[in-house]
Amino acid sequence: MKRNLKILILAGILFICLGMNLLIENASPPQPIEFKIPKGWPKPPTDIFVKNKLTEQGFQLGKKLFYDARLSKDGEISCASCHQYFAAFSTFEHDLSHGVNNSFTNRNAPALFNLAWKTSFHWDGGVNHIEVQALNPLLAPNEMGETLEGVLRKLKKDSSYRRLFKDAFVTEGISSQRMLKALAQFTGSLLSANSRYDKMKRGEIQFTAAEQKGYALYQLHCSGCHTEPLFTDESFRNNGIGLNRFKDVGRMDFTHLSSDSLKFKVPSLRNVQLSPPYMHDGSIGYITKVLEHYRTGIDTTSAILDPLLKKKIHLTDRQRDELLYFLFALTDTSFTKNKRFGPDEKYIFKH
Ligand code: HEC
Ligand code: HEC
Repeated sequence: MKRNLKILILAGILFICLGMNLLIENASPPQPIEFKIPKGWPKPPTDIFVKNKLTEQGFQLGKKLFYDARLSKDGEISCASCHQYFAAFSTFEHDLSHGVNNSFTNRNAPALFNLAWKTSFHWDGGVNHIEVQALNPLLAPNEMGETLEGVLRKLKKDSSYRRLFKDAFVTEGISSQRMLKALAQFTGSLLSANSRYDKMKRGEIQFTAAEQKGYALYQLHCSGCHTEPLFTDESFRNNGIGLNRFKDVGRMDFTHLSSDSLKFKVPSLRNVQLSPPYMHDGSIGYITKVLEHYRTGIDTTSAILDPLLKKKIHLTDRQRDELLYFLFALTDTSFTKNKRFGPDEKYIFKH
């Protein structure tokens, strides 16, 4: 009887310990977040969150990494140094962006939003998955200039990162794969779908007469490449921007096909008002100059020019202004001022 009691007590203790352990393990299990596809939008070509379950903890970890300059070699450059929150995550007013050791990129940093719909990344489409994309800036000597071992060493030393990785991925451990997944949870969640254009589409507001006329002009001259609702068809085209001082041949760099010479990814026109300068090299400083390029700047006899631009675009000054009003209607300040995506109060902006 005594022995039985002992066994019972022992079993009881074991049971309580197991229960406690489970409780601790599940103290705050990662909370799944639903990635909502805006009404009327196509489904993303692949679901980037199938193998990388989107959770609140994963998103928050990705956000912390995105704003953390310690990810770079000299501790000066974060993802957010080049992808600035208030400029729809592009580099504001700089054609090229600052990397470590006073280096510069040789392309203009694209705005980051609606990445879940992208079929390829970078101006030449040289990267095909959001989770591997971040390796490029982390390792590039003219961006963050680090090594994977270097980044991981710094993260592992930091107890708050050790906790955040565990919160996001349940088990202990900081690995490059987890870091890339967390970054992709943050960048892949950047959704911009609430501009005046979207509100008009949802029937919440009406366009002004000028915006409406601009919309029609856009449909006539621009929608073949900057296609609704994402305002890009994800293709690579030549829109008449010539060879720059870096001899950047664009898509051809990646495919080695001469027919891809000077073709670049069609960028989205969403939030374009907030992300000057423009084009792959930031060679056009103002949005009005972009319209001037399409109106008068293109050599329509060029053999490599995209067929859709071979016919000269005629716009009166008034029509140019109407088109501009339409482009401004693509600005989504509820995205660029969304605190959920913005830096924490204590974040000090460098560069
Ligand atoms: C020094 C500036 C710089 C830093 C730092 C930087 N980027 Fe970028 N980013 C760029 C440039 C420039 C490009 C365009 C590269 C190209 O086309 O070759 C780019 C492209 C991208 C793209 C592809 C966007 C598209 O539309 O194709 C993503 C996503 C991105 N960066 C995320 C990040 C993340 C995440 C980090 C941090 C780990 C980061 N970037 C750090 C400058 C930077
Ligand atoms: C034949 C396809 C095509 C057509 C038509 C076209 N674009 Fe573009 N657009 C592009 C490509 C490609 C780029 C990027 C070129 C580069 O980076 O060198 C671009 C870049 C831009 C940019 C710069 C965006 C940024 O983030 O840098 C703006 C703004 C723009 N186009 C507006 C327009 C407007 C307005 C029209 C209609 C008048 C138009 N586009 C018609 C293909 C096209």
